[in-house]
Amino acid sequence: MQTIRYGGDYNPEQWPEATWREDVRLMREAGVDLVSLGVFNWGLIEPARGEYDWTDLDRIVALLHEHGIGINLGTPTSSPPAWLRKAHPEIRLVDFEGRTLAGGSRHGVCPSSPVYREACAAIVEQLAVRYGAHPGVELWHVHNEYGWANVECYCEVSALAFQAWLADKYEDVDRLNEAWGTAFWGLVYRSFDQVEAPSAAPPGVNPALRLDWKRFSNDQHIANYRLQRDVIAKHSKAPATTNFMIPNCEGMDYWRWAGEVDVVSNNHYLIAEREDHQIELSMSADLTRAVAGGPWMIMEHSTSAVNWQPRNIAKTPGELRRNSLAHVARGADGLMFFQWRASRAGAEKFHSAMVPHGGTDTELWRDVVALGGDLKALSAVVGTEVGADVAVLWDWEAWWALELEWRPSVDLRFRERVEAYYASLWKQHVTVDFAHPEADLSAYRLVVAPSSYALSDAASKNLRGYVEHGGHLVVSYFSGIVNEHDTVHAGPHPGALRETLGLWIEEFHPLREGEGLAIEADPGAGVESAASGRPCLETGARGRIWSEHVRLDGARAVARFASGPDAGRPALTRHDLGRGTAWYAATALDEATGLDELLATALDAAGVERPAGIPGGVEFVRRGPMSFLINHSDQDVTVPGLRGTDVLTGVAHQRSVPVPAGEVVILTD
Ligand code: GLA
Repeated sequence: MQTIRYGGDYNPEQWPEATWREDVRLMREAGVDLVSLGVFNWGLIEPARGEYDWTDLDRIVALLHEHGIGINLGTPTSSPPAWLRKAHPEIRLVDFEGRTLAGGSRHGVCPSSPVYREACAAIVEQLAVRYGAHPGVELWHVHNEYGWANVECYCEVSALAFQAWLADKYEDVDRLNEAWGTAFWGLVYRSFDQVEAPSAAPPGVNPALRLDWKRFSNDQHIANYRLQRDVIAKHSKAPATTNFMIPNCEGMDYWRWAGEVDVVSNNHYLIAEREDHQIELSMSADLTRAVAGGPWMIMEHSTSAVNWQPRNIAKTPGELRRNSLAHVARGADGLMFFQWRASRAGAEKFHSAMVPHGGTDTELWRDVVALGGDLKALSAVVGTEVGADVAVLWDWEAWWALELEWRPSVDLRFRERVEAYYASLWKQHVTVDFAHPEADLSAYRLVVAPSSYALSDAASKNLRGYVEHGGHLVVSYFSGIVNEHDTVHAGPHPGALRETLGLWIEEFHPLREGEGLAIEADPGAGVESAASGRPCLETGARGRIWSEHVRLDGARAVARFASGPDAGRPALTRHDLGRGTAWYAATALDEATGLDELLATALDAAGVERPAGIPGGVEFVRRGPMSFLINHSDQDVTVPGLRGTDVLTGVAHQRSVPVPAGEVVILTD
């Protein structure tokens, strides 16, 4: 029977051999059955070009295998050795300001460098030949965090690679001029070699240039991954992955990465000072599951504090377990930490680990061992799906486009709106999937588009078809404005959604910092859902950030602005189209000021069932045959209306389930 894989990054090269034996003993004690090995050891296994030293790695691989601990073998290419930088200074990373970055750390290389690529292929070939058929090697951990510190490089080599990429994409430079709208300011190109990498420049750089640069940069990393994956596949049947950073790496478009890996794996660290960090964790897990299209694994998270935030807050009692099991609830079939044993030297010595500096007589170690035990009881969820009736649209390209310079307001932030909508749904105990705007949405009763500034023609058609065929869609302001080249869709805003929403916008009216607007139900508004029995946004709704002059063309006003530049005009609209309904919020609503109400109404209208009676602060997720109840609050609670057997304690519950403060209860049907 398959189990949830458990373990972490293992860096035995930092320790004497006596510690390795202690490590495998402790790994077994904790139930660890998979470790990521050799993620950063290039400088150790290839001391000089073409000279290899396998002494330690051979011994460690044998030791782990002998003790039944699976190996997720790293390729060490995110930390190139000093000799390579010395011999080939041209591989060094050049940043946006044009500075060449020094060594002494990892990642400081140009992703487009042919010299670097060749050296990567050579070391990976050596590893694959040597260990590819080893029965202990179960998975390949290619590179580490593509795009962590070198998403973009602005060196000469990169600029030339960009020109070649553009020539490949557009074939004819006039097609590029057309797509980029270069007639504006006469920024026309007569040949591809006139296009410069968009490093620091005077304000007003062509946004379409910046967008293609981001696509190019993402593609360079994908090419590097493919290169290694294909070398490995010549010598090994083990699957390959690389650890994503969803959602905290803006530069990688993981929709494009998804099809490249055999297993989707993700690294997620709490932004510890955020009060709602468990919601951000859930969002990361749901988005990773969407990218994976099914189960996935968490390749790195932390047992307690990290070392790289301004204030590295330690996890509170029980938080490690809540975080880990939330990942499992939301689709993770593997649970790994960075790292196994806390380092003594180097940059990460204040980062928590499975074996802390304090050793095994610690709460943290006991939690690590207990979690390993819990996971063994959860084997029945392995491979199972997480059901969701609601999808939130997410598009890295829309994120990039929205946050380029010279937008109507600096307060237009992609994650600000997505997180506001996600958090409201989370608190209403609605499990969501994420989806690309061009994806098949027919499985969802409700689709939410909190920030879809850029939408292609295909996405526009997709969303319209979704509604016409009976879907319910909620759209927030400044969506559907431009296409994938940041060109405004023809006609009045929002061109990509005008017909779907049944309205058009005469003018945008961004608000001043901190300004708020009153919103009132439209005097003629009827009951919007049978469940609520009243109009939506009846009382006390307020808007922030945005207001605009909405002109109805098929939609009706559900609520109107009661103050500000658009007083008396529609603030919330509803358009019944075909068999479905499209809602539109023309301002930034927050949980308590209309957003919960809007989403509750739309959920009711769409017929999305929610579990009743779950107390606030309790996360509820159904996965396969199990229901996860995670109490993030400091109150003991009882959840009514649920029955089942607690998988971890064996206690049967008939009518209601107590969940003590900070605890996790997992019920099986
Ligand atoms: C990243 C890296 C790890 C380690 C952790 C620390 O996720 O992949 O090597 O540096 O951060 O949090």
